[in-house]
Amino acid sequence: MNRQSTSHYDALSLAFHWLTAIVVTIAFILGPEGFGRLMRQGIDPATRSDIVWHETLGLTVLALTVLRLLWLALRPAAPQIPMAGWMHISAKLMHAALWALLLALPVTALLALGSESHPLTLLGGVRIDQMPLIANSAIAKLADWGEVHQFLGDAIMWLAGLHAAAAIYHHVIVKDGVLLSMLPAKRPR
Ligand code: HEM
Ligand code: HEM
Repeated sequence: MNRQSTSHYDALSLAFHWLTAIVVTIAFILGPEGFGRLMRQGIDPATRSDIVWHETLGLTVLALTVLRLLWLALRPAAPQIPMAGWMHISAKLMHAALWALLLALPVTALLALGSESHPLTLLGGVRIDQMPLIANSAIAKLADWGEVHQFLGDAIMWLAGLHAAAAIYHHVIVKDGVLLSMLPAKRPR
């Protein structure tokens, strides 16, 4: 495996990054407002396309993140762009927070559905009515996981916005190669 430092992330890391960014943003936009109220009214979530799409896209994020973490261990070295120590540490902390949220969002959603005995409803008619393993676990009672999930959903968008603003700051003000490193490399003419 080539571990030499380059100016760009490899193509698969690029694909994972931008696909995840798009899927997270659409899942956020479709975040089911008033879910608890709908459930209390006895509405079947399978009849609501926003809920079905939200849950399907959210689980797609989980699958993408697990595959991406495997790729992180195997891929060529990530670009090492020289920058001030505090910037480097902030970027590392931001990445850690984003990785943690990408995993915590689907996990808290499953805890929310399982602990309240609400069905998981996905595209293609996939449906899981009960998740007894979650419902009977001690962790299910530790928090209102729906509230935690909503909070984390807002948090990932705020942090991703800050992260994108930092990338644009690097490009426009610092004029280094940070933003370009996550964009496809130009082919030499
Ligand atoms: C990247 C992934 C995800 C993001 C960014 C996200 C974001 C959000 C947001 C912002 C809300 C609150 C909506 C509002 O009140 O206006 C929400 C609610 C909800 N999400 Fe997600 N979500 C994600 C993944 C998932 C997954 C994987 C599932 C199901 C397996 C799911 C199921 C739900 C449910 C059931 C609610 C309603 C919670 C309640 O009110 O009790 N979400 N989500
Ligand atoms: C929901 C949206 C986003 C999420 C969850 C996210 C997450 C991440 C993560 C986890 C990394 C580390 C990647 C790796 O090591 O392979 C990363 C890197 C990067 N992202 Fe994002 N990102 C998002 C949106 C954006 C946007 C909109 C931009 C640009 C405007 C951007 C620019 C970058 C750049 C330039 C890097 C590599 C350089 C660095 O920060 O050190 N990201 N992103």
